[in-house]
Amino acid sequence: MAHPTRTASLTIDGKTYELPIHSPTAGPDVIDITKLYAQAGVFTHDPGFTSTSACDSAITFIDGDKGELMHRGYPIDQLAEKSHYLEVCYLLLYGELPSAAELEKFETTITRHTMIHEQMHNFFRGFRRDAHPMATMVGVVGAMSAFYHDSTDINDAHQREIASHRLIAKMPTIAAMAYKYSIGQPFVYPRNDLDYASNFLRMCFAVPAEDYVVDPVLARAMDRIFTLHADHEQNASTSTVRLASSSGANPFACIAAGIACLWGPAHGGANQACLEMLKEIGHPARIPEFIARAKDKNDPFRLMGFGHRVYKNFDPRATVMKKSADEVLDLLGVENNPLLQIAKELERIAVQDEYFIEKKLFPNVDFYSGIILEAMGFPTAMFTPIFAVSRTVGWISQWKEQLADPAMKIGRPRQLYMGETLRDYVEIENR
Ligand code: SDX
Repeated sequence: MAHPTRTASLTIDGKTYELPIHSPTAGPDVIDITKLYAQAGVFTHDPGFTSTSACDSAITFIDGDKGELMHRGYPIDQLAEKSHYLEVCYLLLYGELPSAAELEKFETTITRHTMIHEQMHNFFRGFRRDAHPMATMVGVVGAMSAFYHDSTDINDAHQREIASHRLIAKMPTIAAMAYKYSIGQPFVYPRNDLDYASNFLRMCFAVPAEDYVVDPVLARAMDRIFTLHADHEQNASTSTVRLASSSGANPFACIAAGIACLWGPAHGGANQACLEMLKEIGHPARIPEFIARAKDKNDPFRLMGFGHRVYKNFDPRATVMKKSADEVLDLLGVENNPLLQIAKELERIAVQDEYFIEKKLFPNVDFYSGIILEAMGFPTAMFTPIFAVSRTVGWISQWKEQLADPAMKIGRPRQLYMGETLRDYVEIENR
């Protein structure tokens, strides 16, 4: 817990209130208004939480002005280059990079939790084949609480640990099964001799009729995509998980809530929406038309993959993703991918446009990820499920951190009520 370094004075109707100011290890100071309502009888008002710190956290920090992101102090570009997803999972969960022995034990544990209860296969058959895989994931992950009763007690540290490992391990299996079900192919079981990313690619693309060999370059690109999406401070879906957890809900229900929130096109659904936008643009010559629409206040259209609540500079994940896109498309012999050409031209034009400069709108993590995923053979509907697979470790790490916070209370915001004042019921004959 941060400690007050000084106070802010707030004067209302001639009465002054002293509010403690806490200084973080990085980022802006915060004014603690915990006691404001009790002292002054007023609420603060911040729809969308643009100026509100909701919790203490030591997991991830973003400097939006500099375009910097770090996990437990390590910058994302170094982690993307030198680490790998399961090691980043360990870092997010436990706060330090693992020793070789710790990493081996952790990877073995995750590997041995990748299968799901065989009876859960029946859930998939209850969905229409054309169900969006995010709908399937919300349902199946929520249903995990019906199968893993021995890891739903949030007050038991051992059960919290097992639930964390089960969720990280089983999400790729569930996502791959949702994809296989949608294309009418048989489920492919995970293999313990494959790394996390290779296992996921094989569960998605292997068929019983022939052997499937994972391309190590694609596996590395997949692992990097997982690493880049792992955690991101108190974004909408993480805040959803924290709010759900604050009521004491079990971890599977909380993660299902996070998946539901991530699905929105303003959040994790943007990667699918961005690729669909690039396809709709269709040719670089049409880019000015879409830029004009994005700037038109009367047009709800927004440039998907651009803008961010926190980043007012390049999203460092987009920078790494752009480099990875070049590598993957080059490997696949589609370096002249028309969508990548449109994306690069769109980025070039947008970052020079006065509107985007003034509003500090830069490409975000979702701008290039869809291009890589499509080149790897994923349908657009699988883009957000892949984001959900990766972000599960962030949700779970933040969930664990909140449960360990002695200051944790149920999240219950108040409101600025603008409705009718008290009035008596009117009988129907008098209306
Ligand atoms: C993710 O929070 C996280 O950390 C999220 C995430 C994570 O890892 O968890 O980083 C993942 O969700 C990335 C963002 C993916 N979403 C998109 O790419 C969708 C397109 N982007 C926009 O919807 C928007 O930029 C948001 C939702 C991302 C951010 O919205 P904000 O912070 O609420 O900003 P805003 O809507 O108030 O926009 C500020 C101004 C507005 O104009 P004015 O009302 O001031 O005149 O910028 C404009 C907006 O109209 N604007 C855009 C725009 N984004 C903002 N105009 C055109 N195109 C855009 N993309």
